[in-house]
Amino acid sequence: MKSLVHLIKCIVHMDSPSSQVSEGELEMLLKYSRNADVICEIGCYEGKTSVALARNTAGAVYSVDPFVEGRLGISYGEWIARLHRKRSDTKNLFFLKGFSRDVAPTFQLPIDFLFIDADHSYAAVKTDWNSWRPKLVEEGIIALHDSKIAPNSPIPLGTMRFYAEDIPTLSDVTELNSVDSLTIFQVGRTAGCVGDSG
Ligand SMILES: C[S@@+](CC[C@H](N)C(=O)[O-])C[C@H]1O[C@@H](n2cnc3c(N)ncnc32)[C@H](O)[C@@H]1O
Repeated sequence: MKSLVHLIKCIVHMDSPSSQVSEGELEMLLKYSRNADVICEIGCYEGKTSVALARNTAGAVYSVDPFVEGRLGISYGEWIARLHRKRSDTKNLFFLKGFSRDVAPTFQLPIDFLFIDADHSYAAVKTDWNSWRPKLVEEGIIALHDSKIAPNSPIPLGTMRFYAEDIPTLSDVTELNSVDSLTIFQVGRTAGCVGDSG
């Protein structure tokens, strides 16, 4: 019900798309993605960050989300994201509907900037990393949301475990910057995947 009310309020301009991305995080995402030709966001939600990324670049933004439908058979998030894209007159934002693991094998473009912000369980973020990391160009950028406890991410999550335990084992990954719960990495030449344990 809350989601339906939010959708209706968005339609009549009484609400706007929600996001847990803080202002500082958005600023950092925009800074590191500005010159990217191909940007992928894993986890679109209501499209707030997707549209901001698209408006900030001459490249193309692909945002992946299953847009799971609610009880009325409607994905409120998808409707809000599509409405937001239309109203912002954004032509370079493409929604890829599906789970990350299913969409990844179908995505063939070399990625300059990858934003991982979908299922925050440890196993899922590891799958996202391993599915999408090989598609990055050399010296491509990966932004990982909810990688650290922060005011906008106060509860321990699998993404934080992945950041603390797995990222340090990847010799081709360099941490470039961080703000709130967001960390920015640059990746090197090798495929940099992590093992299945855990
Ligand atoms: C935290 S929200 C994303 C927020 C968005 N990146 C933003 O900046 O506003 C997480 C989203 O991930 C989506 N999601 C969950 N599991 C997913 C998966 N396996 N693949 C892709 N998206 C997934 C959810 O439907 C949800 O919309």
